[in-house]
Amino acid sequence: MIGLFDSGIGGLTVVREVMKRLPDYSLLYLGDTARTPYGNKSAEVVAAYGLQAAKFLVDRGARIIVVACNTVSAVGLTAIRQAYPDIPFFDVITPAIATVKKVSQGHHIGVMGTRALVASGIYQHLLSQENNFQVTAQAAPLLVPLVEEGWLDRPETKRIIRRYLAPFKQAQIDTLVLACTHYPLLKSLIIPRMGKRVKVIDPAEETAIALTQWLVEHPAEADSLPLGASHFYVTDFTPQTEKVASNWLKRTIKLEKVELK
Ligand code: DGL
Repeated sequence: MIGLFDSGIGGLTVVREVMKRLPDYSLLYLGDTARTPYGNKSAEVVAAYGLQAAKFLVDRGARIIVVACNTVSAVGLTAIRQAYPDIPFFDVITPAIATVKKVSQGHHIGVMGTRALVASGIYQHLLSQENNFQVTAQAAPLLVPLVEEGWLDRPETKRIIRRYLAPFKQAQIDTLVLACTHYPLLKSLIIPRMGKRVKVIDPAEETAIALTQWLVEHPAEADSLPLGASHFYVTDFTPQTEKVASNWLKRTIKLEKVELK
C-alpha cells in the first residue's frame, strides 16, 4: 500500500493530488491530529513524531511512504530513512526543489512555510549547491487555522495573505514555493496577488507527479500495490475534522481513531 502521513489533515492536499493521478490505488493516510500543528515545534520533537507515524504506516502494510508534511520533510527525514532503509520514501521538498530548478529564471525564490520549516533553512541548504540561488523565506502560521476553518475567501484571510506576501513582492522573487500543506487551498488568492511574473509551486502536486513517475519506472512495485478503498486514520477524532477532510477531498470519508506507539 501507499502510505501517506502528516501532522493533521493538511496532508490531504497531497492525497488529493495522488488520487487525481492514481485513482485506483488503495491509500493509507495518517493525520496526527492529536498533536497538530508540528510547524511550531522543535525539530527534535517533529522528527520523533514523524518516525512514529512512519512506523504506524509500515506496521499497517505500507510499502511506499509519502511524507505529506513539509515540516517533517524538512527536519525528520534522516531518522525515518535510517529506520526503514528498504522502503521508498517521498517527501514534499525534493520534487519542489527539482521544479524550482527547472522553472526559476531569476534564481530568486520565495519559500512560505511553517516556522519549523523556515528555521530549518532546508531550501537554502538544498539550493546552495546550485549557482546563484537566492532564497527569501517567510513563516505564515496564521494561514493554517484559517484554512481549517474554511475561511478561504474572507477579507480577513486576504488581508493576512497580503501581509505575508509583502516580503516576497518587495524582494522581487520570480518563484514562490507554498511549503505548507494548507497553502495550496489558498492558491486562488496567492497567485493573483503575486502576479503573472511569479511562478507558484505547489509541492503537493509536484510530489504526486514524482510518485506517479516512479511507479511508471518501477512496474513490478506498482503491480504489487493493492487497488481498492483507501483508509484514513487520525490520532484524535472530531466530527468537524471529518467534515473538513471530506470537503477537501470532495468525497465522504470516514476517519478512524488510532493510537501511535
Ligand atoms: N502539515 C504541516 C506542514 O506542511 C502544516 C501544519 C502544521 O504546522 O502541522 O508542515
